[in-house]
This record gives sequence, C-alpha cells and structure tokens, in this order.
Amino acid sequence: MPPPRTIDLRSDTVTRPTPGMRAAMASAVVGDDVFGEDPTVADLERRVAALMGREYGLFVPSGTMGNQIALQLHARHGDEVLVADGAHCLWYESGAAAAIAGVQLVAVGTGGLVTPDELRAALRPRVDWCPKTSALVLENTHNRAGGKIIDLAVSRAVITTAHAAGLAVHLDGARLLNASVALGLTPAEVAGEADTVSVCLSKGLGAPAGSVLVGSREQMYEARRLRKRMGGGMRQVGVLAAAGIFALDHHLERLADDHHAARALAAGLDGCPGITAVAPDTNIVMIDVAPGAGVDAHGFADHARVHGVLLSVFGEFRLRAVTHLEVSLDDALTAAEVIRKVSRAVAA
Ligand SMILES: Cc1ncc(COP(=O)(O)O)c(C=O)c1O
Repeated sequence: MPPPRTIDLRSDTVTRPTPGMRAAMASAVVGDDVFGEDPTVADLERRVAALMGREYGLFVPSGTMGNQIALQLHARHGDEVLVADGAHCLWYESGAAAAIAGVQLVAVGTGGLVTPDELRAALRPRVDWCPKTSALVLENTHNRAGGKIIDLAVSRAVITTAHAAGLAVHLDGARLLNASVALGLTPAEVAGEADTVSVCLSKGLGAPAGSVLVGSREQMYEARRLRKRMGGGMRQVGVLAAAGIFALDHHLERLADDHHAARALAAGLDGCPGITAVAPDTNIVMIDVAPGAGVDAHGFADHARVHGVLLSVFGEFRLRAVTHLEVSLDDALTAAEVIRKVSRAVAA
C-alpha cells in the first residue's frame, strides 16, 4: 500500500507549478527586463495594474521586496511608518524596514484593523524632535489575524484620515485577491484609495515566485530604480511572469475552492476538546491549542506531522493551517480527522 500522502497546510506558498503553468513558462517570449525588453513581464505588469485600477505595475521577486520598495517610496530614513497590528512587514521581513528602508515601524489598531481614531491618536506632533510620521501600511487579507478580510468601510475611512494628515498609504495585498473573490468585489474596489498596493502571485495563485507592486506612473518609475538598487532587477524573467499570467487566467476564481476547504476544515474541528478553530474568512484557519491540552503549538504540530498533516506554529498555543491549490476538499476533511485524533492522543 502506498504511504498516506502528506497534507501540507503550512502555507499557500508551498504549491508547485502545474503542468499547464510549466508549459506557459517554457514557451514564454522573453527579453532583458532590466532594459525594459521583456514583453511577458510588460504584459503581466499591465494586466495587474488594470486589475487593480492603477496606472502602472512593477514585477518584483517577492512580496517582501514589494513592501520594502513601497516603504522607501513613501518615507525617508528616520521617518515613522504606522502599520496595522501584526503586519507582515513588522513580523516577517527580517527587520528590512529598519535595515533597508531605514524607517521606524509602529503598530496601531488590533487584529489588523485600524480605525481613524486610532490613527489620529498615533500621529506624532509635527515638531523637529519627533520622527516624521510619513505613511500607513494596511494589510488585506491580514495574515496574522487569520486571513481576515479587513472591513472595507473602516479601511476607506482610515485611508481618508491618513491622506488628510499627509500620510501616504501602502496596502500589502499579498492575498488581496482572496478578499476580492470572497467578497465578490473587484480587486480595485478592495484596494480602495491606497497609494500603492502589492499583490503576490506566489500565494493562493500558485506561481513559483513574484509579486506586482502597482501605483502611479511616477511612483513606479522611482520603484524601478529602488528595485534595481535592492538587487531585484531581473533579466529574462518573462519565464516567471508567464507563470503569473497563467495563474491569473486559471487560478483566480478557484480561490473560492480554497475558502470552501478552509471552512470545511474549521467545521470539522468544531467541538473538538483541547483545540479551538477560528472560523475563517478566506483560506487561513487559526487553531488555538488549549493551554491545558498537554502540549504547546510546537508539540501539537510535531504530532500532526507524524500523522501526515503539516501545520505552521504561529504562537505558543497557536497554529496556522492554510488551504491552497494542492489541498482538495477531501484533504481538508482528512486533515480535520487527523487533527482531532492528535488532540485526543495528546490529552490522553
Ligand atoms: C501578508 C504578506 N505580505 C507579504 C508577504 C511576503 O511575501 P514573500 O514571501 O514573497 O516575500 C507575505 C508572505 O507570506 C504575506 O503573508
């Protein structure tokens, strides 16, 4: 009998290019993109800019680089940038905001949501002995908040407040397309009035690498220089852009399947003693291990791995499970079974 398949729920970044995507990559027309001569990259940038309702797009190697370029566009060294509580650029970008963009990040709000009042309270006086507060970074969906869709009315209001206070707004939209599909709104509607937005191709869309930063023509002109400075100028990178185009054509609407699988996973854990699954908005399920359950999140993940389910540790007692292209509805239901068994076993 073949060994049972591992169900990898650590992240939606673990997907491998499908045969169709590989074929698109192999036949991509390419050129030197540092010279602006790669037609497939140009096509991808135009398509994402149009999708997001922005003038221009810039293909960058990663979501991290997209965020870091945005920080450098909107703030100078020594400035302060307010970020939604739990922001990726605060937690998971290896300190790049300080080391590369040279800015001081301050978390505001709770659970990824920032209200206009919270923003106003965080603004420093405009005096020369305080850092200048230059920008606000929002994230939608919000990863640490569990793939949460950030309320659009509140987002709109806080962006208006930020603009009125002279702040630029960057939206980390690594998983913005999940929000768009879940809400039945266009990506441009979800993006609202943010000045720049970065969108990842390598998460739920299933491409092997790449993100697109979008904004105005002038911003993207400067962003190109910043990308080169950071070592992100790539040559015949149409092979990767082709994967992104394929993903937009074939993997966008199916994000709804990931959301369905995530809901099924959470529902399958309902009432399970020792753990609590947070009902998901999109493709991320946060699972809290009860402090008295006998193990912490690391211990729980170790047990689940032995039984063929991979989970990420997100806190002492918090686990993250993410559905994606390589997780079917059946896989999600199987994973729920396994997690229930693990919960019973560790409690015994
Ligand atoms: C919300 C968010 N922003 C940015 C990133 C960074 O993307 P990358 O891993 O491509 O640098 C991630 C990655 O998981 C993310 O979840």
